[in-house]
Amino acid sequence: MDGNGRWATRRMLPRVAGHKMGLDALRNCVRRCGDIGVNVLTVFAFSSENWKRPIEEVAGLLDLLALALAREVPLLQAEGVRIHFIGDRSGLPPKMQAGLAQAEALTSGNSRLVFNVCFNYGGRWDIAQAAARLAAEGQPITEASLGAATALAHVPDPDLVIRTGGEHRISNFLLWQSAYAEFHFSEKLWPEFDAQALDDAIADFNQRERRFGKTSDQVRGAPHREAA
Ligand code: IPE
Ligand code: MG
Repeated sequence: MDGNGRWATRRMLPRVAGHKMGLDALRNCVRRCGDIGVNVLTVFAFSSENWKRPIEEVAGLLDLLALALAREVPLLQAEGVRIHFIGDRSGLPPKMQAGLAQAEALTSGNSRLVFNVCFNYGGRWDIAQAAARLAAEGQPITEASLGAATALAHVPDPDLVIRTGGEHRISNFLLWQSAYAEFHFSEKLWPEFDAQALDDAIADFNQRERRFGKTSDQVRGAPHREAA
């Protein structure tokens, strides 16, 4: 969800005002996903590297998470959304850690949409914590075991990764899980990313041919013999 800061700066507003608008955009995006039958939505809300931002912006983002826990979680519950928080919780204040666990417990019976919020998350953190866990348990490290130890093992790998704000980078998001994802880059700043923009991204995705290492003929079902 990139572009909140620029959205605010262009309007001569403090950056935190952009993050507030970003929360509104996120609420609409979650609703749209539920309405159109998306099963899983995973968003990058705060990265392991975002602590390096100015202290007032970090404080604003933490306050916004606390506000969202109080104000948005009841709405998610009413809409049948199950929330998970993905990231290193040990770096968050204990009260906030309790709030995250409470939101997860409250919504754990919901299945309309699985909503993963990556907070204090990094793709490298996830791979490293998964490997460390397997090593501590003396388990062999394979693609399957490592994948199962990642923080997103409860959902399938993403089909589509959307980056807003005109940047063409992955910035440490879903490094392991996005191996075969389709990428969509939107010029829109996140606060402007509305239902139409989401529909456009999905229409773009639907144009792609996903080959997973095979040839175009193979995935189109032309007769062939497989080597293995
Ligand atoms: C939101 O956008 C990302 C978060 C860390 C919440 P940015 O804050 O990166 O916005 P820009 O890139 O400065 O516009
Ligand atoms: Mg940015």
